[in-house]
Amino acid sequence: MPSSKFEPNDDILNFVIKKANGLKGLVDTGLENIPNQCIQPKDQRLEKSQIDNQESIPTIDISNFDDLSVEKSIQDAASKWGFFQIINHGIPIEVLDDLKEAGHKFFELPSEEKVKYNKESYNASESVLMFWSAIGEKDEKVLEWRDGIRHSCNPQNDSNLWPPQTRNQVLEYQKWATPLAKKLLEVLLKGLNVNEIDESLEPLLMGTMAININYYPPCPNPSIAIGFRRHCDMSCITLLLQDDTGGLYVQGTKGDNWIHVNPIKGALAVNIGNSLQIMSNDRYKSIEHCVAVDSSRARISVPLFVNPSPDSVIGPFPQILKDGEKSMYKHVLFSDYWDHYFSKRPSGKASLDFAKI
Ligand code: OGA
Ligand code: NI
Repeated sequence: MPSSKFEPNDDILNFVIKKANGLKGLVDTGLENIPNQCIQPKDQRLEKSQIDNQESIPTIDISNFDDLSVEKSIQDAASKWGFFQIINHGIPIEVLDDLKEAGHKFFELPSEEKVKYNKESYNASESVLMFWSAIGEKDEKVLEWRDGIRHSCNPQNDSNLWPPQTRNQVLEYQKWATPLAKKLLEVLLKGLNVNEIDESLEPLLMGTMAININYYPPCPNPSIAIGFRRHCDMSCITLLLQDDTGGLYVQGTKGDNWIHVNPIKGALAVNIGNSLQIMSNDRYKSIEHCVAVDSSRARISVPLFVNPSPDSVIGPFPQILKDGEKSMYKHVLFSDYWDHYFSKRPSGKASLDFAKI
């Protein structure tokens, strides 16, 4: 139960964010209609008519990772869809189940416990983690229907500061997922004629990692709320674990159609982020995606973001431009790009403009 009751005239940001009740706490008050501050403008909702059941993103069996046909499927999926699912990736199902379970345990804590992990604002250089319900809360008055917690998974970060409910499960998952992410990046780079990820490339491609746990509580009016607005990730690649609730949609090839990422037990979704789109000079696509919410079920998802280090300079690989291909992007400092993204929150594809020539 939330520690305090939400009254109609209460400041929602105070209740949800400052007191760390989260959207979960709001739902637990038994409210029948969502507050005005959670009603999305029409262009941010996902209309049923936009959902396309004809197209679907590929599912790739990677048990024979080194098979040339598997490599090609991954490279093709990254070029055409920017989003695909992988099965038989070798991460034990218990590791995935324990991680989702840990997410439930954390978000079901009383707000007095969760508030310890609060941070005033979203800031990439924070070494620990934060509990937040609205990125860009300063200038965005409409709350997404989501609670979330971020674990920065880098040597300088102290995992002892993470919640005891999630720490071991996140670390265990990271142990399995890091080599998988590296292998996926290697296959993707091979498709660009860039050699293996050696020490010079590692900071650029896998300089920092973060594992978030997103919790989408059930929503009384799902059609006018959104769990996660349409956006592109800033990462090189993102690995996403989702439960079987469903609700993740990616932009299809027709432009205004949205495709459901059907939950597959044991699978991980993989998507290309803006950084790799830039480095690949648009060969690989960072695709817009969003999350709709469910009226009866809470959903857990766990994205692992594999990002350049803040001091990396990102731009198209020289190997791609050597035969005279026109560069679509300038070289930018990743931390400048990151700060721009999180201060301006450019929606979807516009988030690439910062680096466009
Ligand atoms: C994200 C994201 C999708 C999901 O965290 O960037 O797109 O299913 N999450 O929660
Ligand atoms: Ni995303």
